[in-house]
Amino acid sequence: MINWTIEETVAVISINNPPLNASNHAVRAGIVKALLEIEAKKDIKGVVLTGVGAHFVAGSDIKEFGAPLAEPQMPDVIAAIENFHSPVVAAIRGACLGGGYELSLGCDYRLASIDAVFGLPEVSLGIVPGAGGTQKLPRLTGIPKALELIIGAKRVNAHEAVKLGMIDGVVEGDLMKEAFVYAQAGHTKRRVIDLSAPVLDTGEANPIRDKALKRARNRPAAKRSAELIYQSAKVGIVEGLAQERATFQDIRISPEAFALRHVFFAERSASKFISDEKPINIQRISVIGGGTMGAGIAYAMLKSGCIIDLIERDIEASKAAKNRVFGLLTNEAKRGFVSTRAVADIKKRFCVHDNVQAVSGSDMVIEAVFEDMDVKKSLIDSIMPHVSNDTIIATNTSYLDVDEMAKAVLNPSRFIGLHFFSPAHRMSLLEIVRGKETSDQTIVSAFRLARKLGKQPVLASNAYGFIGNRIYAAYRRHAEYALQDGAPLVAIDSAMTDFGMAMGPFEVADMSGLDIAWRMRQSIGKKEGQRYVDIADRLCEEGRFGRKTGAGYYKYEDGKKVQDLHVDDMIVASQKDVSITSKTLSAKHITDRLLGAIVIEAIQLLSEGIAQKSDDIDVALIHGYGFPRWTGGPLYWASQLPKESLVEILESVQSAEQKSLPLNTIIKLIGALS
Ligand code: NAI
Repeated sequence: MINWTIEETVAVISINNPPLNASNHAVRAGIVKALLEIEAKKDIKGVVLTGVGAHFVAGSDIKEFGAPLAEPQMPDVIAAIENFHSPVVAAIRGACLGGGYELSLGCDYRLASIDAVFGLPEVSLGIVPGAGGTQKLPRLTGIPKALELIIGAKRVNAHEAVKLGMIDGVVEGDLMKEAFVYAQAGHTKRRVIDLSAPVLDTGEANPIRDKALKRARNRPAAKRSAELIYQSAKVGIVEGLAQERATFQDIRISPEAFALRHVFFAERSASKFISDEKPINIQRISVIGGGTMGAGIAYAMLKSGCIIDLIERDIEASKAAKNRVFGLLTNEAKRGFVSTRAVADIKKRFCVHDNVQAVSGSDMVIEAVFEDMDVKKSLIDSIMPHVSNDTIIATNTSYLDVDEMAKAVLNPSRFIGLHFFSPAHRMSLLEIVRGKETSDQTIVSAFRLARKLGKQPVLASNAYGFIGNRIYAAYRRHAEYALQDGAPLVAIDSAMTDFGMAMGPFEVADMSGLDIAWRMRQSIGKKEGQRYVDIADRLCEEGRFGRKTGAGYYKYEDGKKVQDLHVDDMIVASQKDVSITSKTLSAKHITDRLLGAIVIEAIQLLSEGIAQKSDDIDVALIHGYGFPRWTGGPLYWASQLPKESLVEILESVQSAEQKSLPLNTIIKLIGALS
C-alpha cells in the first residue's frame, strides 16, 4: 500500500489503499518502513507524502478500532515523520480527515489542491482525535476554532483551511510539482509540535465550548475532546499528546463508540443493493404534485443536478408549486447553502406545467399527489400514454399499497415506491419500496438516484407504512396508551427526549399535524382487538391540528409551546369514558414501554420480511425519526441490553398489546443480533 521513489533530491511516498486511502496497519507500517529506507539514502533534501487517486487519507480504518491496535500506531508514524531529518511535505487532494489530517499535522508543510476537504470528525464516531489533533489544531487555529471544528465534527474546504491556518497553501495548478519544489528548496524543519502552546482565554472559549457541547448533546466524546483542547494550553506538548492518547484508547472501546461504529457500517450495508443489473441513468425527472412533498422532492433533485418538470393540476396550482420551490431556493441561498451561480443553474433546469403530457421524455416520473388510492391510480392511468415502457414510475405514498397502484402501470417491473421524508430537501432518509413486480434494475437505479441525491436509502417491501411509519405508529400508539393511563404529556415527551429522541412523540405530532392521521382513522376505522385512545380525535374535533392551527396537544403562543389545561380536561374525559383510573408512571416505565413498542414492531417487520435486515431498521429510525444515533439504533440498542432488562421492557409492552410473535422468540431473535 506504500510506494516510494526518489527524484533528484526528493523522495515521494505514495499511499495507495483504494478507494479512500484509509490508514490501516499496513499503511502505518509501510510509511515507517519507507522513511527508514529513505533515511539511509544520501542527499535527500525533503520528502513529499501523498495519496494515490482522489484522496490523501480519508481517515483511519475504523474496523480496527474495536480491537487492540497493532504496532506501529498512528502516533509512532507521525513521530517518525517529525523526527525525519529533512522536511516532509503533505500534498493533499480530496479527503484529509481524522487520522489523515493528523498525519498531515505531523508533516512540516501542508499543500492542498482546491478539491481538498479537512476535518477531525472523530466525535461523530464516539471517539476523540487520538494522534495529535486536539493538541496541534489549537496551536494552528487557536482554541475557539479548534473547539468548533472538533466538537462539531466540521469539515472545511481548502480555502477555508488556509484562512484558519490548518494548512499552508492551496495549489490551483500542479500540486505535486509545487510540493516537489518546496521539498527540494532545502528548508529547515517546521514542526507543529515546536509551536508554542495556544493561549486560553476562557471568556472567549467557554461560550463557544458550551454551545458546541450543547449541540453535541454533551456526549462523552465531545466533552472529553473539549477537555483535551483546553489541556493544550495548560500542559506541554508531550504531556498533552500522552493525555490525548490515553483518552483515545479508553474511549474507543466505550459502548457509545461501538454503537456509532455499528451505525457507520449499518449505513453502508443499507446503501448496498447487490445485483448484476446495470442502473439506468436518471437525469430528467417529472414530479407530479407540487405540494409540501413534491416541492421538496423537486428541489432536492434540482440541487443534485437533475432536470425537473413539476406538474400540477391547473395553472393556479402550478404557480403555487413554483413559488414553493423558489421559496426553498431563496431560503437556502440566503443562508449560504447555494451559490448565486447554482441558483441560476437550478432555474435553468426547472419548469412547471399544468398538464401531464409534460412527462414525455422523462427517465422517471414521481407522484406526490394527495394520499388517496383513487386519485393516485387515475393519475398514473393518465400518464401512461405519455411515457415509454422503460420509464420508471415512482410513488411517494406514505402508507398506500404499492402493488395496488402498480396495477395502473403498463410495465409494473418499472414501478417503485420512493418514500421521502418531510422536509424532503433536508431529511436524509429515503425508503425504497419494492413491489411484487419491481425489477432489480429499477431498484438498482433507485439506489443510484439516492446516492446522487445524497440520501440514505433503506430497502423495504410493500406493507402498510413500510418500515419507518409502521414502527413509528406502534411507538405513537404506546405514547397515547401511556397518556391515557395517566402519564402527563410533558413527562412522556421529556422521557423520550431525555433518552435522546430529537423530539417527544406529542411534539412531533403537533409539528406534523394531527389532521391527516385523523382522516385516515376515520376512513380505516378501529383495528379489531387493539386498544383505541380517542384523545387525538377529541383534539381534532376542536380544530386543534397542531402547530399550524396554533394548538394541538400543546398551545402555541408566538410560536412557543406551552401546556394547556384544557387538554388535561380532555384526557380526564377520555379516561372516564373507558373507566381508566389515572396511575403514576415513572420516566423509566414510559421509556421502557415506548422503546419496547419500537423493538417489538421492528422484530415483527423482520420476521415478515418487510425489512431485510436489522441494520436497515436501525438506519431508518436514526435518519427518519430522530432516534439517537449514539445508541446504535433500536435493534442494536436492544441487543446490547442485559437479558433481564430486555425481558422487563418487552413485557411492559406485551401486557398492553397482543402480538403474534411470542416473547421468547423475540428475545431469541434479538439475542442473535448481539
Ligand atoms: P399536499 O396536499 O401538500 O400536496 C399534494 C399536491 O398534489 C397538491 O399541491 C395538489 O394540488 C397536487 N395534486 C393533487 N392531485 C393532482 C393531480 N391529479 N395532478 C397534479 N397534481 C395534483 O400533500 P403532501 O403532504 O405533499 O403529500 C403528497 C404525498 O406525499 C402523499 O402521498 C403523502 O402521503 C406523501 N408524503 C407526505 C409526507 C408529509 O409529511 N407531508 C411525508 C412523506 C410522504
